[in-house]
Amino acid sequence: MQSLLRLLQDGQFHSGEELGAAVGVSRAAIWKRLQALEAEFDLLIHKVRGRGYRLETPLSLLTADVLAASSSFPVTLLQQVDSTNAEALRHLASGAVPPFLIIAEQQTAGRGRRGRSWASPFGENLYYSLVLRISGGMRQLEGLSLVVGLALLHALREAGVEDAGLKWPNDLLVGGRKAAGILLELSGDPADICHVVIGIGVNINMRMTPRGETIDQPWTSLRQILGRQIDRNQFVASLNRQLERYLQMHQVNGFASLREQWEANHLWQGRLAMLVAGAQSIQGRVLGVDDTGALRLEVDGREKVFSGGELSLRLHDDS
Ligand code: BTN
Repeated sequence: MQSLLRLLQDGQFHSGEELGAAVGVSRAAIWKRLQALEAEFDLLIHKVRGRGYRLETPLSLLTADVLAASSSFPVTLLQQVDSTNAEALRHLASGAVPPFLIIAEQQTAGRGRRGRSWASPFGENLYYSLVLRISGGMRQLEGLSLVVGLALLHALREAGVEDAGLKWPNDLLVGGRKAAGILLELSGDPADICHVVIGIGVNINMRMTPRGETIDQPWTSLRQILGRQIDRNQFVASLNRQLERYLQMHQVNGFASLREQWEANHLWQGRLAMLVAGAQSIQGRVLGVDDTGALRLEVDGREKVFSGGELSLRLHDDS
């Protein structure tokens, strides 16, 4: 199945003979296989008499050996999984030793922050979970998700997206629209030895909201921003490099050493915003973050500090 998709990923016509010869089945059997591919990965394949078959939308498929060559961690590439974060936690539970990386072409139950789902169509975006061992206690976790945001921001810039910025705690926005998100999940005891799953989702080549899904916030993708298809293997290589660089700085010097850099890239710095936690909300001016990555807000003339995975920041209209 995968070899058929690899041949078709260029979006050009391929004849039944060519496809049949490549995978060792008869011309007649090819259409059945292609229909199975369409159904499994929610793809559209056009069949034109005399010309052959072509994918409606070209793909940039991930390749296991290219990913392995650009990563200093062992990589598992899956075609389809419920969630790469969930899979990473299962690997840990069955004794896998970090660091390791799980990447998938498609997630059927991608997880977002605050119980949301994360749209994860086949072959278009990046679904990436890096698992690390944390042995330095809470300090090693402080500001970690913000540092991952900085690494991701640099990977987006390297891909050519100049005007990407951060929104506390770790959204990546371009033109007010979300291009990527980060979800950290812990396993074990943070006060002792634990593991962290750094889940990263990047909208790379997505052109439209996947059929049958809704995305409940304005979104964009690298393809929409740059107007061309992005090589996803190359993007992973760049993300690996940036993460290694930033995680190293964070481990050695802590978040405090990166705080200024983070604030310099914070899109909502100085703006009037609402901090929302469930049904409650607080309005204030965004002062920045503290040395642990917590949000500093000026509320009624006084500085208050907030942290926690369930919080979200919204812009107040008139700031
Ligand atoms: C957010 O809500 O902004 C966080 C989105 C995180 C999505 C990524 S995709 C890879 C990893 N696996 C998941 O199920 N979620 C994260």
